[in-house]
Amino acid sequence: MTKFKTPYYTVDDAFALYHGDCMDLLTQIPDNSINTIFADPPYFLSNGGISCQNGQVVCVDKGDWDKGGTPEYIREFNMQWLSLCRSKLKDNGTIWISGTYHNIFSVANCLTELGYKILNVITWQKSDPPPNLSCRYFNFSTEYIIWARKHAKKPHKFNYEMMKQLNGDKQMTDVWKIPAVGKWEKTCGKHPTQKPLRLLYRVILASTDEGDLVLDPFAGSSTTGIAANLLGRKFIGIEQEKAFLELSKKRREEIEEESVAKKMLKKMQELPEEVTVLVNHARKIAMEKMLETGLCYLRAGESKGSLLVEPGFERLGYVLLHTNGENAKLFKLKKKGFQIWTPEALQEKGFEAENAPYYAVLHFDNTKEVSFSRSIDLSQRKNTCAAKILPLSDFIELR
Ligand SMILES: C[S@@+](CC[C@H](N)C(=O)[O-])C[C@H]1O[C@@H](n2cnc3c(N)ncnc32)[C@H](O)[C@@H]1O
Repeated sequence: MTKFKTPYYTVDDAFALYHGDCMDLLTQIPDNSINTIFADPPYFLSNGGISCQNGQVVCVDKGDWDKGGTPEYIREFNMQWLSLCRSKLKDNGTIWISGTYHNIFSVANCLTELGYKILNVITWQKSDPPPNLSCRYFNFSTEYIIWARKHAKKPHKFNYEMMKQLNGDKQMTDVWKIPAVGKWEKTCGKHPTQKPLRLLYRVILASTDEGDLVLDPFAGSSTTGIAANLLGRKFIGIEQEKAFLELSKKRREEIEEESVAKKMLKKMQELPEEVTVLVNHARKIAMEKMLETGLCYLRAGESKGSLLVEPGFERLGYVLLHTNGENAKLFKLKKKGFQIWTPEALQEKGFEAENAPYYAVLHFDNTKEVSFSRSIDLSQRKNTCAAKILPLSDFIELR
């Protein structure tokens, strides 16, 4: 990994933080060495407006680094760092830049002028935006992330299939619904413009492989570095303010503890909109019949052990069948929702259903078993026999 003259903090060759102005420090990174850059530069929006934070009216002041300048100044600033970044990227490398209307149009123009090719403009839709206090505009609930590659003609790295898998086997779109940064990400303190780990999880998974090198020239609290390391990627961050370097250090130290890292990786993979899996125990004979017919059934109505329809049911995309935790098999549902069948209807299909007045029936694609990498021990859980609704990320570990 690249060694600068003055590292502020390092962890082996996985995490390296540098203190200073990225306009100087970027020149020290060898050309063609970086796989992906995520940059969350100043948006230039700290101009005396008001906003709402934790239910209170506050003046928008993220720090001196975010104070607006003339359009010429903003353009000059963006041209300078984007030009430096371009030479650091590998030929198949890509850059992601976040922003709002205050800076993003300038960034897009600079990218095109410098020879990058814009691939997507991702709309990050915040699922929980604070209210607009002036009531003179629509509520601001989005930010943009431009994704661009180094060369107009050379192909770039994109883990297309992984993104599809993350999206419940449907092509992922350029609108990402992700909540704003949560309490669980602020245990070491917070940065005024901290990005959610869940956003970086997706960015890093989409554009890098394990062992790749990720750079963030405006590192802040190093959300990029934390996500990168949790996913087995290496990180170089540059930040000009000491207080944020200290916060980054604390965050990196926090994930040294294996149990914390595991928990955080799991949280980072969860999304409120995530596709879910119905985990259903069935006796051996019933399971064989389910595999043969593509029908999965559970008791409904008031019968003992009947299905409790919990939140997440509306997002069911898969069933996982098992017998007392053994022989688990995962399948995609053929259609959304479920039907209510009588025992007689199930008996006609060859099932021995006779304990409940009604059954919830789901149709799955029994021709294609879906492989899953995470070994979740179903027999260790309480109530092995009770059906559960769990997020897909519990079964498909994407790295
Ligand atoms: C928008 S914040 C990044 C927040 C970060 N994504 C996070 O999740 O914590 C931008 C950061 O860039 C830093 N910064 C601004 N101009 C800089 C420069 N020229 N060189 C290095 N850091 C700079 C600021 O101090 C600020 O912490």
